[in-house]
Amino acid sequence: MCYPLATGAYYNSIDLRDRDALKKIFDSTKFDAVIHFAGLKAVGESVEKPLLYYNNNIIGTIILLETMANYGCKKLVFSSSATVYGWPKEVPCTEVFPLCATNPYGRTKLMIEEICRDIHCGDSEWDIILLRYFNPVGAHPSGFIGEDPRGIPNNLMPFVQQVAVGRRPALTVYGNDYSTKDGTGVRDYIHVVDLADGHIAAVEKLFQGGSKTGCQVYNLGTGKGTSVLEMVAAFEKASGKKIPLVMAGRRPGDCETVYASTSKAEKELNWKAKYGIEEMCRDQWNWASKNPWGYGKPDESTNPST
Ligand code: UFG
Repeated sequence: MCYPLATGAYYNSIDLRDRDALKKIFDSTKFDAVIHFAGLKAVGESVEKPLLYYNNNIIGTIILLETMANYGCKKLVFSSSATVYGWPKEVPCTEVFPLCATNPYGRTKLMIEEICRDIHCGDSEWDIILLRYFNPVGAHPSGFIGEDPRGIPNNLMPFVQQVAVGRRPALTVYGNDYSTKDGTGVRDYIHVVDLADGHIAAVEKLFQGGSKTGCQVYNLGTGKGTSVLEMVAAFEKASGKKIPLVMAGRRPGDCETVYASTSKAEKELNWKAKYGIEEMCRDQWNWASKNPWGYGKPDESTNPST
């Protein structure tokens, strides 16, 4: 499928496992670097359908890397995840922490990281940056671009957003007996605009002064931990909407507290997150209130209240 870009050019949407289609794209343009975001990302689905995840995420990546190598394009930025820290023994998580994965989705991220380290080991012409995302939330401040998950959202903020617009009656809080400030899970939420800026910084690093980057890994987070209840309160304040809560048990596989050490990215990428949870919630509400049904049309069974 072809999509128009603002510049008047077109880009193609293909399945990375379609080697011929990918080859055509590489035939059409000379790429200096690739930012690889493609992949399936639902933890629960990955437990139910591991082969789908291994096939899509791993095979897609291998075909991309092979094609890049064939065309002499050996600079890559890959979207990894804080999921590779598992349940960390301490926080903040630094990039040298031991790695583990607790579900097939996480294992695909970890395997792709290992594949990248191996290809750099085998061929030092590769320059690779692995970005470990913490919890991306918010939306573009324009209100035109935001997250629109299919089906029931797995993640906290898309769910909160759907409660705020009246698509769902209440948020289920998974666990209020953790050893945290209010008993709920603590995460490092990062505004998607900061996350995007982190990618620009990574690409710049790949081209910095002709020096070799090697295979490097950076956390993209704010370095601050926020609980579920604090996030809900910030969203209520930004939206003026009450988010009804239902307290439930812990979600299997969830960790108590995860947040990033950001010093390596600050020092080496010259990048630091600018936005806090107020801006994240403000921009997410701006997107949600303008697009209560995301990019789609209302499902006839329910109506948003805004
Ligand atoms: N939570 C709820 N109710 C919900 C959804 C989430 O209480 O309906 C809680 C969770 O228990 C957790 C917090 O909100 O305490 C954040 O949960 P998310 O699902 O939004 O995010 P996770 O930290 O579980 O997972 C995210 C990404 C994963 C990634 C991981 C890396 O979704 O892809 O961060 O740490 F692997």
